[in-house]
Amino acid sequence: MPQGKALDLAESAPILGYDCTLTGSNGYKESADSDIVVITSGIARKPGMSRDDLLKTNADIVRSVTKEVVRYSPNCILIIVSNPLDAMCQVALRESGFPKERVIGMAGVLDSARMACFLAEALDCSVENINAFVLGGHGDTMVPLPRYSTCAGIPITELLPAETIDKINARTASGGAEIVALLKTGSAYYAPSAATVDMCESILKDKKKILPCAAYLEGEYGITGLYVGVPVKLGARGIEQIIEVGLTTEERAALHKSAAAVQELVDLMGL
Ligand code: 2OP
Repeated sequence: MPQGKALDLAESAPILGYDCTLTGSNGYKESADSDIVVITSGIARKPGMSRDDLLKTNADIVRSVTKEVVRYSPNCILIIVSNPLDAMCQVALRESGFPKERVIGMAGVLDSARMACFLAEALDCSVENINAFVLGGHGDTMVPLPRYSTCAGIPITELLPAETIDKINARTASGGAEIVALLKTGSAYYAPSAATVDMCESILKDKKKILPCAAYLEGEYGITGLYVGVPVKLGARGIEQIIEVGLTTEERAALHKSAAAVQELVDLMGL
């Protein structure tokens, strides 16, 4: 299957105008000395299942994949996509023995893209005008932040009624489940891929883009020893900076509630 996917993608290159070598493989050897490795392995959710239901199965999968990846690419940067996201980052950090800057979770870019999509729809404007901001774990407790979300630089709180914003926040938090329910088998594909590419590009081109990602916090936002989604600067060294923004008492409480949900999963895994 991976060989078929690689060939199919390679055959699209002359039409889409990109020029790179693609190799599909069932082993790890071909990935040796990678700069970035994206781990998406794990079972996907079925309708009605939460990301957390996947905990034990996916922890074993991520642990074994990380072990092999690190054996062949000891200097890579790991981007984790497997769910439950924040807990799986913790597994990969522990198993890899990498510094925290080189183990990053893909969640916030996806969650804020979902929020931006819904905001553009509500405002009947281009998605290019929207900058949406989501903090916290990649689960039902994630924290969309309307105060820091803008349309053409204007806070959305100036443009939309509170009840519309509340609905968009709730839809954002259950954005993954909405897709799972529609697809019936498998989970979202295009938006998670696009979000991961955005992160890879910032790292490979040392763009130093500020993107919301799951990062291992050691005191930032009052959270210690845990992966949670926060804005980070992504460059050649991986996470080059964690950006701390001011939060209201309510926003901070919501972030801490989200962190507590992640901590619960980490405790369940005995990490
Ligand atoms: C999602 O939210 C797969 O976690 C991913 O769709």
